[in-house]
Amino acid sequence: MVGADRIPFHVAIIMDGNGRWATQKGWPRLVGHRKGASRVKEIVRSAPDLGISHLTVYAFSTENWKRSTEEVLGLMALFARYIRREAENLSSENVRLRFIGDRSKLNAKLQRLMGWVEERTQGNTKLTFTIAINYGGRDELVRAARHLAHCVANDGLDPEQIDLMTVAGSLDTTDIPDPDLVIRTSGETRVSNFLLWQAAYAEFFFTETLWPDFTPDHLREICDVARRRVRTFGGY
Ligand code: IPE
Ligand code: IPE
Ligand code: MG
Repeated sequence: MVGADRIPFHVAIIMDGNGRWATQKGWPRLVGHRKGASRVKEIVRSAPDLGISHLTVYAFSTENWKRSTEEVLGLMALFARYIRREAENLSSENVRLRFIGDRSKLNAKLQRLMGWVEERTQGNTKLTFTIAINYGGRDELVRAARHLAHCVANDGLDPEQIDLMTVAGSLDTTDIPDPDLVIRTSGETRVSNFLLWQAAYAEFFFTETLWPDFTPDHLREICDVARRRVRTFGGY
């Protein structure tokens, strides 16, 4: 076991395939999302033992509003239920929960719950667990550009001072290291607007397994493979 406090290791997951998992079984898509949420709990619990210090999951993209009202509302209710039910466990497991994405478009009650659990878990140090809700990499960059433009217009920021650090610091992920590994389940090999800036040098791993079938054993195998890959970051 690698101590999560010693080596930062950030795994980001595009949890895909919930709908197909349910459809294959003749069930409504929301059943797949529910099963997916219970997988999230298992993965979070297993992460520290795999040497993972940061775990980020893609739960709802800026494009997912295109889905049926029933599915969107069902997902929002699932997020609220997850927060309410898991807050206690996350605290006792020393996990810090935070969110990325534009939360201003979410309903007020969900926003309040998100703020509440972030505050409640902010001192926890074993694992930083980030959930991306109404998140899109392009939207995040637009919001960062707008923020920097305001700083130039109102706070005397010199445009020449804008560098990699300034931009990174204006993103939702400020104070989270870049992902080392991005996993996508369900056989799709797209990035679908996830962590576009942050994944510049991440390793990518694609698996056919649908998210509701994804277990800590799958995660362990993938982490082992990823750790054996040589990363030169443009050098050699
Ligand atoms: C991923 O599963 C979860 C979300 C996007 C919310 P999908 O719902 O995309 O499942 P498939 O891709 O339709 O099987
Ligand atoms: C990506 O999955 C978003 C999430 C997992 C939350 P999608 O199923 O929405 O992506 P596409 O439509 O296949 O690209
Ligand atoms: Mg999908």
